[in-house]
Amino acid sequence: MGSTGRVIVFDEKKSLVEFAMGIWREAYGESVAVRGYMTVALSGGETPVDLYRALARTDENPGRGNIHIFLADERFVPLTDKESNYHMVRETMGDAVSTFENHLHHVVTEGPTPDEAAERYEEELRRHFRLKPGELPRFDLIILGLGEDGHTASLFPGNPALGESKRLSRAVTLDSARHDRITLTLPVMNNARRIIFLVCGSRKAASLKGVVEDGNAALPASHVVPRDGSLCFLVDREAARLLTQKRKAH
Ligand code: 6PG
Repeated sequence: MGSTGRVIVFDEKKSLVEFAMGIWREAYGESVAVRGYMTVALSGGETPVDLYRALARTDENPGRGNIHIFLADERFVPLTDKESNYHMVRETMGDAVSTFENHLHHVVTEGPTPDEAAERYEEELRRHFRLKPGELPRFDLIILGLGEDGHTASLFPGNPALGESKRLSRAVTLDSARHDRITLTLPVMNNARRIIFLVCGSRKAASLKGVVEDGNAALPASHVVPRDGSLCFLVDREAARLLTQKRKAH
């Protein structure tokens, strides 16, 4: 049994980005009407870059001052490092974000240990969402990617952070070739109002099928199942090449 999420296949990256912008606008309109602001969590990687650049040019850009951005995960590197997701978001959203520096909630990666950084990020989440003990943050929108191994954010196969059921963020130690990470945990993700996955490229075909059709529990992204929210996979034709069920194409 695969994911309950809706899968939409796009012939062009441009139309995928436009569709994602429509979801962003919809989340923005609803969130601002009810709460006066929108809170999102963004992933790093290459796939969302076109979307972030396009969002910076729209009226609903973070520069409006009523959008708070968190990171779905972060590499444990200085914020100026090109590997940093904070750095990527600043670079791709440019002025739209810098106008409200305090609205881009970054992980403190210089000074603390990864575990301390995860704890401080958790405190930032508690502060922003005004959480009481035991409460979970409820993001208006989380944008996720998918790795070839089925990871999402920094929840990797077999990593203890995947099974975290209480903490809001966790430090993740990978093999020596890769930086330590800080990631939002599944309870936080699955409490979101809207989650969209952006998945492009033939390399992702096997993991995408494993998540959306096979429900392969070994793939971390299979565990992203919002309790009371929408889930949508926006994918290109190459990533969808192994899917067997007919899908709405755009
Ligand atoms: C990161 C991301 C990560 C990413 C996937 C897909 O920090 O790298 O959060 O989870 O979304 O690895 O990356 P691409 O979009 O580059 O394929």
